[in-house]
Amino acid sequence: MSLYQTTASAPVNIACIKYWGKRDTTLILPTNSSLSVTLSQDNLRSTTTSRSDSSFTKTRLWLNGVEEEIKPNGRLDRCLAELRKMRKENVEDKNPNAPKLNTWNLHIASYNNFPTAAGLASSASGFAALTASVAALYGLNSFPSSPSTSYSPPATASQLSLIARQGSGSACRSLFGGFVAWEMGNNPDGKDSLAVQVAPESHWPSLHALICVVNSGKKGTSSTAGMQNTVLTSSLLQHRIKDVVPSRMSAITQAILSKDFDSFAKITMQDSNQFHAVALDTFPPIFYMNDVSRAIIAIITELNRVSVEETGHLVAAYTFDAGPNAVIYTEAEHIKTIIQLLLNYFPIDFAAAPFHDSFALFEGGHP
Ligand code: PMV
Repeated sequence: MSLYQTTASAPVNIACIKYWGKRDTTLILPTNSSLSVTLSQDNLRSTTTSRSDSSFTKTRLWLNGVEEEIKPNGRLDRCLAELRKMRKENVEDKNPNAPKLNTWNLHIASYNNFPTAAGLASSASGFAALTASVAALYGLNSFPSSPSTSYSPPATASQLSLIARQGSGSACRSLFGGFVAWEMGNNPDGKDSLAVQVAPESHWPSLHALICVVNSGKKGTSSTAGMQNTVLTSSLLQHRIKDVVPSRMSAITQAILSKDFDSFAKITMQDSNQFHAVALDTFPPIFYMNDVSRAIIAIITELNRVSVEETGHLVAAYTFDAGPNAVIYTEAEHIKTIIQLLLNYFPIDFAAAPFHDSFALFEGGHP
């Protein structure tokens, strides 16, 4: 028996410029570029262990301990096929002594330590951890134990992002820490639709994310189904991808590089608003936010209004993905005020009646 095993983990990322819409649904090529912050906190991660053994009779996957079917030519199957191809071409064809792992079956077990499919991008961290774990198993992204100066790994994180993207679009951004852009690319083969790091996690340590879990249940409309309907029916999406996102991408990159919180916050809130407007412009309409989400927007808006009046600066930015949960970006000095404010409006009631949406709050850490 020959057995190889690796474990890798990847964090959640939260987009400031949202990805919404595919121009190619198989390769997962987006209709616009996007930009996100990868959260650093340990309690928002997927951890994946991959094992390759010459005696395994089929490739199997467990998610949070429950075995899932791997659909032939489905997203996971395609990601694994790409990784096998890379293993063969970049490692085995170059080194005849390397074991032929590309021909062996895999057993993969993945855990999320936060609610799955609650609009907290579990598929992003999940497919990123899976790609990183199998890539490490296949020797694609790890350095040898005694690296020579001339050694470079057979695949960069951006090259691996091309694979993670085919599992779940936003997963390509979770392969990097810090501030990450997913460049939409132009090629029909998708080779230029990849993630690049805009700035590392160390760049802006005072920036923090607060996660407000408004509802940890499964979301109503999956992002896959939702965005396809948006592409087919929303004229606002066409305006967004042509006239809005390109300039927002460069403006927010500038804001991040110069640590300009006011611009960062304004663009982040505007883009979240437009994403949800596009969801509403879809026919039939999609509502991801609920009354608690809208109350959070009102609270942050009022907080910012008072702060601009007193200091000339914004203090917080909300953003919502495909679910009702809020992520609030703020700088370290304001975290306490914001938590106190939110708890004033939504006291955490551990004995909450089951028909109420639950409300929990925790810190996502700085990027
Ligand atoms: O990668 P998906 O299919 O889970 O889509 C993610 C879409 C949003 O979270 C709403 C936006 C984004 O850019 O992450």
